[in-house]
Amino acid sequence: MVPAVDDRLAILAILPISFVVVTALGRFIENRQNKPPLPPGPVPLPLLGNVLSINTKEPWLTYTRWHAAYGDLVYVRILDQDAIVINSQHIAKTLLDKRSRIYSDRPYIATLEPFGWSSNFGFMRYNDEWRRCRRIFHQTFRPESAVKFRPMQMRRAREMVVNLIDDPQHYHSHFATFSSSVAMSVVYGYQTSARDDPLVRLLESVSDLGIAVMTQERAVLLKTFPFLLKLPDWCWGSSLKRDAQISTNGTTELREMPFQYTQQHMADSSPHEQLSKSMVAESLQRMEKQDEASKPIFESALKKAAVTAIIGSTDTTTSTLMAFALAMVSYPDAQRRAQAEIDSVIGRDRLPTFEDRASLPYVESVLRETLRWHPIGPLGVPHATSSDDIYDGYFIPKGATVIYNIWAITRDEKRYPDSTCFKPDRFMDANGALTDDNPAEYIFGSGRRACAGRYAADASLWSAIVTALATVEFSSRKDDQGKAIDFTPQFTTGFTQ
Ligand code: HEM
Repeated sequence: MVPAVDDRLAILAILPISFVVVTALGRFIENRQNKPPLPPGPVPLPLLGNVLSINTKEPWLTYTRWHAAYGDLVYVRILDQDAIVINSQHIAKTLLDKRSRIYSDRPYIATLEPFGWSSNFGFMRYNDEWRRCRRIFHQTFRPESAVKFRPMQMRRAREMVVNLIDDPQHYHSHFATFSSSVAMSVVYGYQTSARDDPLVRLLESVSDLGIAVMTQERAVLLKTFPFLLKLPDWCWGSSLKRDAQISTNGTTELREMPFQYTQQHMADSSPHEQLSKSMVAESLQRMEKQDEASKPIFESALKKAAVTAIIGSTDTTTSTLMAFALAMVSYPDAQRRAQAEIDSVIGRDRLPTFEDRASLPYVESVLRETLRWHPIGPLGVPHATSSDDIYDGYFIPKGATVIYNIWAITRDEKRYPDSTCFKPDRFMDANGALTDDNPAEYIFGSGRRACAGRYAADASLWSAIVTALATVEFSSRKDDQGKAIDFTPQFTTGFTQ
């Protein structure tokens, strides 16, 4: 039978379309064939990938299960997003550090912009603005410069223990006041009040709102249903939009208010010492020497670097101190041994200072074990690749999210037997000297995006821990008969836990 004219036209139309489809398919297969395989991983579902199998509250637990099943490098698909999970310190060093040219970008996070967190350079793409912010930050937080803040950190640690002795029940609030008062002082030269400071409260609320949603696993909802930000206020599900607005207003206030405080007080006839050596004051003085055209760009980067510093400092330091307190309550022998070391090295007539640090190896191992036992950023901050790469015969695509599963390293039973137990001894050799294993080498991430505040964080934590050990005793609450009340620790989760 001869086809009718309409049928012949249809055949003519189908032919070129088929040609395009077949060529594209061929090219896709050829591309895949020419490339090495992706790293092993769980089988993804069409469209959804592996998203339904991931515990969105504690994704590190899922990734650590997959570590056991698939190895040190695992491929995961979160909706249409390629993700590579690194489960070993060695691979993190090789990729994030030695190949940092490829691995220093950050992925798109759907909650970033709506929650006003794009001012935080820790989440910025790997571009000139990030470089400007990081350079300004580095001037203040590099090890040789951060050391000038130590006397102030020690002073604040002593204020913290006075608060703990006065009002032991609100220990979380005293840790938070310590962390934010150090940050506010370093960055703006702003002296917070001992309790209930309005800026500290603002900082806490901005951190709480943002940290809970600033992960890709949590941002999936907004990525899939962006209309959630457009729902009318009365509609079910509009709470996300409300939170986003509150968070944006909070971050704007936090970026502008303390900055203006420093600017205004620099004009005083004799600004106090802490203000003059703050990051913002020193940077504004440097800015004066620049040409007029570059000043607005510098000022904008400085505001972002400054707000990043206070947000980056506060929750991380507070959560680590909470983990320390929990360890001291749960492992009283470790607490007693650390106190005995302080008593024998320093005595009871004075408080510890930074000069004593090298003589207190057990206190040092308590700090190391706290970082390992309860890593507050179990997945760090995700990196992203800016070009294709091949590692160990596996293909790593451009634009992939790269997750450093720090949790998996802390739970490596070969390196840390009984890894769930708090055992500071694991960092000491038979002679009582410290070993070479320092969790700070992985807890703060790796490569060009590694924690920019690492040295300041270390000094804050050490001063708080040693001062608390020298002066107070952490223990459970007692009932009317003086018996310790049992408790189950609860962790908030998100970007930090
Ligand atoms: C216990 C305390 C802290 C821990 C465990 C911690 C951990 C981390 C981690 C894991 C990252 C991501 C690293 C990566 O992408 O590879 C990071 C980034 C960052 N941290 Fe920290 N941090 C702490 C305290 C601080 C403090 C006190 C500051 C500020 C003074 C700070 C500022 C930053 C900044 C600015 C970044 C982003 C760096 C970038 O993207 O270029 N952190 N931190």
